[in-house]
Amino acid sequence: MAFYRFIRPFAFALDAERAHRATIAALKLVPKHHPPHFPDSLKSTVAGIDFPTPVGLAAGFDKDAEVPEEMLDLGFGFVEVGTITPRPQAGNPKPRLFRLRQDEAVINRMGFNNGGQPAAFQRLLGCGQLHGVIGVNIGANKDSADRIADYVSGVRAMAPVARYLTINISSPNTPGLRGLQDEGALDELLAAVQQVGAKAPIFLKVAPDLAEGDPERIARASIDHKIDAIIVSNTTVVRPPLKSRYAAEQGGLSGAPLKPLALDALRRFRRASAGEIPLIGVGGIATADDAWERIRAGASLVQLYSAMVYEGPGIARRIAHGLAQRLSRAGFANIAEAIGSER
Ligand SMILES: Cc1cc2nc3c(=O)[nH]c(=O)nc-3n(C[C@H](O)[C@H](O)[C@H](O)COP(=O)(O)O)c2cc1C
Repeated sequence: MAFYRFIRPFAFALDAERAHRATIAALKLVPKHHPPHFPDSLKSTVAGIDFPTPVGLAAGFDKDAEVPEEMLDLGFGFVEVGTITPRPQAGNPKPRLFRLRQDEAVINRMGFNNGGQPAAFQRLLGCGQLHGVIGVNIGANKDSADRIADYVSGVRAMAPVARYLTINISSPNTPGLRGLQDEGALDELLAAVQQVGAKAPIFLKVAPDLAEGDPERIARASIDHKIDAIIVSNTTVVRPPLKSRYAAEQGGLSGAPLKPLALDALRRFRRASAGEIPLIGVGGIATADDAWERIRAGASLVQLYSAMVYEGPGIARRIAHGLAQRLSRAGFANIAEAIGSER
């Protein structure tokens, strides 16, 4: 934290996207070492995968799988790279990434800028999968004539290098993408991706902006199609009151203002699925208390991104150790016992 406090003013002097590129470049220079050791109480098995801690890096930070091992070494229990689309694409015009400092939030409308699946595949081939859990989040190209076909080819292409795959249909920055969460489309999509018969478990990532009945419908479709976990949630298009001058920028809002929405969405999915499918909580998690609350509300694992912008990468380790303390204080032997224990 002390080191990050020192470099943060330099990073914040750059525009947000430049600072992000500089961070990735700097991470590549850090010599690789082994991931830190965590208490055994943090270990768990979700969707057949062994996780050393339940604290993961959410999609969007390492879109092109440039530094997944470095992020594991920094103390994340798992890293989700992507979103990666079949073909490379430039994304939306810049500026498209905004730090809302007074709100401890981020707005982005990146639009799936990425170098495409073949390039990421090659990079991931070079990563020892024994090193830790690396999941791959896949999407559809903006100009694709058949988006479901993009997910099918993404599952086929990336499964050999992914411990799990995430079907991301909840980004607000690809026009019409969230329409795949609608009833008929979702069934068709999930049936098509399962038809591939990929060895890697498949997770579904959903939006926090849910209408009445959405959690029940989406959870039911996921369970029926044997999806292995639901990630709740992506960024929101809703704008709670914000102080920052970037408040009116278009795109998905993440960080502290997303926390109550994402927690509420998680609770709704918990009620709707009654423990039949693992849930992964993400949105506004910045402290061990936030992660603990999410686990007690029904999350088997958690992820974060925006809080790392403000707190630095040491955040993963701090939250993991804080969780271990809370587990032993509450008298639980391991994470699995604490899942859904609120009430
Ligand atoms: C700059 C930025 C880019 C993101 N890109 C993606 C993405 O490509 N795919 C995805 O599924 N989620 C993406 N997300 C959403 C995050 O994975 C996460 O769901 C969301 O930010 C909420 O978590 P947070 O409040 O901890 O940031 C992005 C978020 C940010 C801030």
